[in-house]
Formats: sequence, structure tokens, C-alpha cells
Amino acid sequence: MISIIVATDDDLLIGKKDSSNGMPWHNKEDLQHFKKTTLHQTILMGKTTYMAIGRPLPHRKTIVVTRGELDDERVEVRHDLVETIQEYKNKKEDLFICGGASIYKQALPYVDELMISRIPGKHEGETYFPSFDEYNFQLEKETQMETFVLQIYKKG
Ligand SMILES: NC(=O)c1ccc[n+]([C@@H]2O[C@H](COP(=O)([O-])OP(=O)(O)OC[C@H]3O[C@@H](n4cnc5c(N)ncnc54)[C@H](OP(=O)(O)O)[C@@H]3O)[C@@H](O)[C@H]2O)c1
Repeated sequence: MISIIVATDDDLLIGKKDSSNGMPWHNKEDLQHFKKTTLHQTILMGKTTYMAIGRPLPHRKTIVVTRGELDDERVEVRHDLVETIQEYKNKKEDLFICGGASIYKQALPYVDELMISRIPGKHEGETYFPSFDEYNFQLEKETQMETFVLQIYKKG
């Protein structure tokens, strides 16, 4: 299954440039949810998100997409996002698309599932999750966590 995993606020904000890790908030519970979901899995992210995190996340295979070069032996560098997604679809392996905005936007037509942590409130930042109205996702499950609502959408 190809999944998007993302945390957004009420306005679908996802990123803030001058924060320590690129996120507009510090939400420990969401970080734990992200860790639990992606541990020992393959995660894919754009170069900007990778640079904002600053290192590969432990115990996960990390694919970083860039149209340029990235000299980092700790991750697998790919130059074609859609080709990489199709490869995982074909071999029926799970892939977690972890952002950022430009990667989410391009991946939306190909993913089977959206896993959205809805962080309540409005925050400061400049990067937003794209609208996904046109892709026919249906809300399948909604779980009230302590500090956010976890929504699972599947493609209809
Ligand atoms: N809230 C969340 O859950 C969450 C999750 C992830 C990220 N974020 C935030 O989102 C922000 C970053 O988003 P962003 O849109 O600016 O950047 P991004 O999507 O992380 O990365 C963009 C870069 O990825 C590469 N790229 C994009 N499309 C590509 C393609 N089709 N093939 C190959 N490479 C491709 C390009 O790298 P080159 O320029 O090197 O070619 C591009 O500059 C940060 O603030 C981050 O913290 C939030």
C-alpha cells in the first residue's frame, strides 16, 4: 500500500521554515504516532524535508527525492518520484510518503491512503497540504487521540 502520512492544522498548514525541524508545532504524541507507524518501513521524502530534519530517521529505509545531487550514503537517493512510487506499487511493498508539500501534491494521484493527524488550532508557517477533494478519498476511520484527531482516508 502507498500511504501519505502528514500532520496538518485546521487550515492544512504543514510547515514553518524557521523552526528547528520544519514543523509549525511541537506535538510529542504525533511524533510518537509517526514513529510507531513508520518504524521498520520504507519512507520517502523530498530533499527540503530531509534537510529540515537533518538526518535519516533510525530503523527506517529512507528514500530522498531530488532532481539534483545528494551525497549522503545513509539514504537512497532517487530522481523520479512517480517511477519510485510505481516500483513500490508493482512489487506490492508498503511505502510511506512523508512530504513535504510538493511531494504530497505530486503523489496524491497515486496513493491508496491518507493518514492525517489533525492538530487543532491555527499556527504560524507558510507551507500547506494541497487540496485533495478531486481524488475521491473517503474518510474511513477517525480516532480521537489525546492531543489530535487521527483520520484515515482511502481512495474510493
Ligand atoms: N506537517 C507534516 O506532516 C510535514 C511533513 C513533511 C514536511 N513538512 C514540511 O514541508 C516543508 C517542505 O515542503 P516543500 O514542498 O518545500 O519541500 P519538499 O517537498 O520536502 O522537497 C522539495 C524538493 O524535492 C525534490 N523534488 C520534488 N519533486 C520531485 C520529483 N518529482 N522528482 C525528484 N525530486 C523532486 C526537489 O529537490 P531538488 O531541489 O534538490 O531537486 C524539491 O526542491 C517543510 O517545512 C517541512 O517541515 C511537514
